[in-house]
Amino acid sequence: MGQKVVLVTGGAGYIGSHTVLQLLLGGFKVVVMDNFNNASEIAMLRVRELAGEFGNNLSVHKVDLRDRAALEGIFASTRFDAVIHFAGLKAVGESVQKPLLYYNNNLVGTITLLEVMAAHGCKKLVFSSSATVYGWPKQVPCTEESPLSALNPYGRTKLAIEEICRDIYRADPGWKIILLRYFNPVGAHPSGYIGEDPHGIPNNLMPLVQQVAVGRRPALTVFGNDYNTVDGTGVRDYIHIVDLADGHVAALRKLDDPNIGCVVYNLGTGKGTSVLEMVKAFEKVSGKKIPLVMAGRRPGDAEIVYASTEKAERELNWKAKYGIEDMCRSLWNWVCKNPYGYPSEEYIPPSNANGEI
Ligand code: NAD
Ligand code: UFG
Repeated sequence: MGQKVVLVTGGAGYIGSHTVLQLLLGGFKVVVMDNFNNASEIAMLRVRELAGEFGNNLSVHKVDLRDRAALEGIFASTRFDAVIHFAGLKAVGESVQKPLLYYNNNLVGTITLLEVMAAHGCKKLVFSSSATVYGWPKQVPCTEESPLSALNPYGRTKLAIEEICRDIYRADPGWKIILLRYFNPVGAHPSGYIGEDPHGIPNNLMPLVQQVAVGRRPALTVFGNDYNTVDGTGVRDYIHIVDLADGHVAALRKLDDPNIGCVVYNLGTGKGTSVLEMVKAFEKVSGKKIPLVMAGRRPGDAEIVYASTEKAERELNWKAKYGIEDMCRSLWNWVCKNPYGYPSEEYIPPSNANGEI
């Protein structure tokens, strides 16, 4: 069998860059398509470097998913075995302020991608869904069969895309689609050369902790300490970014299963950790004190969310290997090496006329 070629949309972002590295190391040829709105071109250069001899199997296009002509061009020049679709906007608060931006970017982008895929006979897809589709779960762990709901426009885009995928599979069983519902990715590649570098003010817990640790912020605001949990703070299922990336490689291999259809898998660890437990783990591995300010609950936050991992373990033959201290250690290593994220002065070769970097 020849080398498999995978298109990765949003491949320069946090989860995308780690996944692209694992794909290259796994022997796949990877084409990344990203508009770099929330990513650095340096991430791609570093992935190429980290992949060593496999680095030449990566090519990168600076393209917006909604640019149909550009997508057509990429699909016309390469026959893809599958697509991993990460590209999307993901800030819950921003999605409430700017719903049309989210519906346009996430929905129009995905529909354009699916149409171009269908036109070129590429019908294998892995899509980045989210635990957000479980809303405020009535029961934990969340299984793939738990009731679904969306609490904000971001969540509604995830739910809508899941439904679109189920519909296109119903209409054409030639599609093979895996919907991955991620829980809370944390940490960085152990090299410390790639990691999470959100543009603007971060929304999520650990990017904020990391900014407090390096003095970019005075304290962490804890949203709510009156939940019915071990210490009153919210509980989540934090998963190491490298485990999550490996989950995508497992999902890609599963697409070879002739009976796969359109199927959902949770990617989490199955363990719940509170905000204070997470902060303690980070303080332990970094030796840094994280000052805390207790505040009220953040609107829309659920109390306890963690995954049932049985289905992914059984059917993808994948299981998260790392614990919260590993996540915090890798995060701290990335932060120490890149306290302000990716540098801007690193040499970036000019892109060519096709937007290829
Ligand atoms: P990210 O912002 O780091 O990566 C997304 C990438 O997509 C960025 O590089 C961005 O530049 C690109 N992009 C966005 N819109 C685009 C468009 N129209 N055309 C081309 N490129 C575009 O985010 P991430 O954390 O890596 O998340 C990846 C995916 O996983 C997203 O779909 C997100 O909703 C989903 N997800 C993330 C989390 C999380 O906590 N990080 C949890 C669940 C699901
Ligand atoms: N938290 C704080 N202070 C902060 C930020 C967060 O106390 O400054 C708390 C939250 O209240 C919550 C926990 O830390 O209890 C985790 O919050 P995150 O914002 O890091 O993560 P969420 O679980 O709320 O949401 C994230 C993404 C969603 C995604 C979901 C599941 O933002 O888009 O994980 O994957 F859907």
